Amino acid sequence: MEKSLKKTHLLIIRFCICTLEKGHLVSPQVLKLNEIIHLNMKLHLLLFIFSTTRAYPDGAPIAVCNNLAPLHGSALTQQITPPYTLYTEPHKNVIMVSLNSTIGSGFKGFIIQGRTPNGTIVGSFKLPDGVPYHTLDCSGPDDSVTHSSPAIKNRLDLIWLPPVGYEGPVIFNSTVVHDFSTFWVGLESEEIHIKKSSRAVSLYDGCGMTKYCHGSPIDCIEKENCKIAVAVTPLGDVYDFEIKATENAAWVGVGLSDDALMGNDSVIECVKENGTVNTYMSWTGINPYRATRVPKKGVLLLNGKSEGEELYCKVRRAAVTVVQGVTFDLKKKLYHILLASGSTVTPTSVTYHNLECEATPDPQVLEVNRNLPQPSPQVKNNSMVLDPFYQGCGSSKLCFGFPEGCVDTQNCNGVTAVTSTGDKTFIFEVRANQNAAWVGVGLSDDTRMGDDSVIECVKDVSGMNAYMSWTGINPYRATRLPDPHLGIQLLNSSSIDDTIYCKVRRNVVTIVEGRTFDLDHDMFHLMVAVGSSVQPTTVTYHNLGVTCSAQKLSLTDTSNVHSKSTILVRLHGVFMVIGWIGTVSLGTIIARFYKDAWTGTLLGYDVWFTMHTVFTMLTWILTVVGFILIFVELEGWSAESNPHAILGTITTILCFIQPIPAYFRPSVGTPNRHIFNWFHWIVGSGAHVIAIVAMFFAVTLTKAQLNEQVYYILGGYVILHVLVHIILYSTFSWRRSILGVYILILLIIMLILVTVVAMAPQWPFGQ
Ligand SMILES: *[C@@H]1O[C@H](CO)[C@@H](O)[C@H](O)[C@H]1NC(C)=O
Ligand SMILES: *[C@@H]1O[C@H](CO)[C@@H](O)[C@H](O)[C@H]1NC(C)=O
Repeated sequence: MEKSLKKTHLLIIRFCICTLEKGHLVSPQVLKLNEIIHLNMKLHLLLFIFSTTRAYPDGAPIAVCNNLAPLHGSALTQQITPPYTLYTEPHKNVIMVSLNSTIGSGFKGFIIQGRTPNGTIVGSFKLPDGVPYHTLDCSGPDDSVTHSSPAIKNRLDLIWLPPVGYEGPVIFNSTVVHDFSTFWVGLESEEIHIKKSSRAVSLYDGCGMTKYCHGSPIDCIEKENCKIAVAVTPLGDVYDFEIKATENAAWVGVGLSDDALMGNDSVIECVKENGTVNTYMSWTGINPYRATRVPKKGVLLLNGKSEGEELYCKVRRAAVTVVQGVTFDLKKKLYHILLASGSTVTPTSVTYHNLECEATPDPQVLEVNRNLPQPSPQVKNNSMVLDPFYQGCGSSKLCFGFPEGCVDTQNCNGVTAVTSTGDKTFIFEVRANQNAAWVGVGLSDDTRMGDDSVIECVKDVSGMNAYMSWTGINPYRATRLPDPHLGIQLLNSSSIDDTIYCKVRRNVVTIVEGRTFDLDHDMFHLMVAVGSSVQPTTVTYHNLGVTCSAQKLSLTDTSNVHSKSTILVRLHGVFMVIGWIGTVSLGTIIARFYKDAWTGTLLGYDVWFTMHTVFTMLTWILTVVGFILIFVELEGWSAESNPHAILGTITTILCFIQPIPAYFRPSVGTPNRHIFNWFHWIVGSGAHVIAIVAMFFAVTLTKAQLNEQVYYILGGYVILHVLVHIILYSTFSWRRSILGVYILILLIIMLILVTVVAMAPQWPFGQ
């Protein structure tokens, strides 16, 4: 089922891409490859919402082995610091690898590999049986681990074995999936150095880390030379006991006892009989010493071997067992651990423990709770911590950035601070986070890109640099000046974590492209733009954000600056949401299912017809006004490479065509009437579907500043709309109640969306 759904996804995506490539919708030049990929991902998300399948609930597929990228979602790796750590600790010949949620936000999926620094996957993981994760063979056996179920996990501890004879550095690399659209790719551990070892994995590996271990003589676990030892791995409802004894033992047993004495204990026996190794549950009596076997209950031999002088068993025992009427509950109660070994057995019992006998003086905690070192919490958006960048803003510096209001709260994503030094130069500081590769500050005559003088702060192959450039639009392009250091000097720069920073001195007067920029006497609109990638000689689109001051500024005036109003963008969004989520949904559903729900007439026509006309006319008006608003705002075509603009335009065109056949429609009963009805239906439904798809694309528009969670709200609308159609097609009862409930939920969804769009980038629903 799942497989066929995935196949369908692929087919639909292929179909869409082909249609697009053949130019049915847009020309291939417009739709560059990365847009196709983006579109592909968007469609995948859409289909995900429709199909309700989860991405990979039972673990990552082999396809992710190399780049560790989950094949789902709008697939942007989270840029914020991951709330998880991948922590390693060498232990004897193995490495303990722990994936840990630092702030308690668990994860559903993951994949972890050991790698050399150049990315070769090495080593293998050894997992206990029955854990909710499993190994994958990416380039060698068991070299990766992934989840087996989407249950939320907060912590996992893994044992990793280096390749035999390997010596050198290893880094653990992982992808951690919090949920479908929130995941971190390439979360790495610190590099550790592996020393050469030849020993095979043993009972001692993981003692104190994932296992409780006890043995005799004292300190033998540490020295790996026990004469008798047990290692217990708690696995929830079962516990794995590894027991071993040397000295040619014929049996070794581990007992759980209320006291440190033999007697009334539940014992797991590991017994060598006729060349094979078996396990039994028994119950001890004393004087004479006797272990009486009980019907084998609650134990399972996972591995048993006798090699040289050593006898070894790995036995799984249920956490709760009842032996001789006594309940042993390893999860709730603590027991003394007894160890004993002897050199002879009879066919039905072990004999006296003539070799070793050892008991812990205290009851033992079998669960191992390692305390992992926590990374020091990052202080973010904490107004108590003064950020030196913002010191002097509004008094000695002119500061401006986005999102609006961020200078006051000291949490801009892109920001500039301009200081007049009074000696024929200005200092421009720029800073951007979100893993920006460049941040530019532009001086412009208007609020639009184009013909602006820009100082770029760029992180490129040679490190941090500052360049002078000049902007063109359509396509957006900042062209470096022939002398890219004309009139500027880089004083200081840094790239720390996800943040880049430049401090640049600029001459008061520069002549760029024949135009004189006099910072002392001219006034400019100030622009700040940020993008995530650069090319060797230019920066690329400002995909991480852009803002422009509403007024022209004198750079010597340091009072607070406000960015250009985004009211038109918000109104565009609000109008489209009301039109295409609200009124059109009602208008169509009434025409489709409620033709005979009301008797009589309204405004001279059938009630349904009047309602349909009113609602769809409202949509028509909202669309046209919204369309005009956005063109006024952008003063032309959108510079963002996103299909939203194209889809929106198609919707508007269909909107214009739509009323025509309805107007010329032949009257009831004439033969051609159904053709007109069909045409009306196809154009109307087409416009609706395209409009909704355009809304999905709007979520990632820089200008819209929307939160990704909007996908879920839109998804909710799609589900509601489809569901109500299914219900109304399949039943004729409760029509009016269904309509009432539909209108109610529709109103709620619409109000949420309107609020979100109007308040963006603020997100009114927490987190
Ligand atoms: C870890 O994975 C990320 C994402 O694929 C990759 O960029 C990075 O180079 C990897 N690190 C190592 C050491 O392989
Ligand atoms: C550059 O910045 C660093 C860190 O903010 C600071 O310590 C240093 O003094 C600065 N250098 C100059 C020349 O401003």
